Amino acid sequence: MKRRRFIQLSSLSVPAFTVKSVRNKTPVKPIIVSTWADGKRVNQEAWKILGNNGRALDAVESGARWMEDQQNCCVGLGANPDRDGIVSLDSSIMDEHANCGAVAAIQRIKHPVSVARKVMELTPHVLIVGKGAQEFALKNGFALEPQTLSEPAKKAYEEWLKKSQYKPEINIENKDAGNGPFAPAYLDDGTPNHDTMGIVAMGADGNMSGAVTTSGMGFKMHGRVGDSPIIGAGLFVDNEVGAATSSGLGEEVIRVCGTHLVVEFMRMGYSPGMACRKAVERIVNRDPERAKGFQVGFLALDKMGNYGAFAVQKGFVISVKSNNEEKIIPADYIYDYGVT
Ligand code: GLY
Repeated sequence: MKRRRFIQLSSLSVPAFTVKSVRNKTPVKPIIVSTWADGKRVNQEAWKILGNNGRALDAVESGARWMEDQQNCCVGLGANPDRDGIVSLDSSIMDEHANCGAVAAIQRIKHPVSVARKVMELTPHVLIVGKGAQEFALKNGFALEPQTLSEPAKKAYEEWLKKSQYKPEINIENKDAGNGPFAPAYLDDGTPNHDTMGIVAMGADGNMSGAVTTSGMGFKMHGRVGDSPIIGAGLFVDNEVGAATSSGLGEEVIRVCGTHLVVEFMRMGYSPGMACRKAVERIVNRDPERAKGFQVGFLALDKMGNYGAFAVQKGFVISVKSNNEEKIIPADYIYDYGVT
């Protein structure tokens, strides 16, 4: 059965971008790659540091903070709440020395990515959650923000309450905003659409870092934690090999230690795009029929500044910025919105 699935997936025709065989001969750096079309603005913010010989760690934190300041469905305090009407946020950060920090299910703190960095720098721990994460933030100078929903989140929550249907599927928050069951890269009005913001970067000095920030799955169970704050799931950086981050249904990413898997595939010699594809196939092969109903996307960057992405479903895009280019690029995928 497993072999048949492998053959089925291998025989799917996939466009060329993520399996690009021509690789950089000299490192392209600095470079930053982020999830979704919003990543373009995130990259521009981070570039103020990265483009001035700054540290990749400072750049990815700054990009994530910019995203947390925006009011949108899926990142920061303006995002959609859990099913109890409470916004809780997940974030992680990792540097070139494998130092890492994360917070999960943190409430009423505007910049979880900066709290994650403090966890990394000030504590012997990697992950602090819930009330403890909030207390840690307050002790370290972060302000307690009001427990209110943004207007769009309030509207979305009221709409969700009408059915109160709890389904653990990603992009449920965008279902009615776009076309079809999965979120498109742009909404009908041209607004960039995304869920998790994941960022990986390499500085001019060749050192790599990454950060992720999200409110997680919309209308999730209170206390639910996704892949984003879990090192090796939503974010992984190995300064000898490369870095990867993910977006989509966190539970599926956690099951395969997704970004660690992507980096290990790169270590074996696969290109970033092919490494992402192989990690997606690992997820889809568990149950190809079920996989038609959810989205996971990976992006990866290697030490030479090669980058790539791959997703379960059509619609995942990444944003890249270097001295040579600034682009939003659609990732290749297995299913066209649930159809092979
Ligand atoms: N990838 C974000 C989440 O599942 O929470």
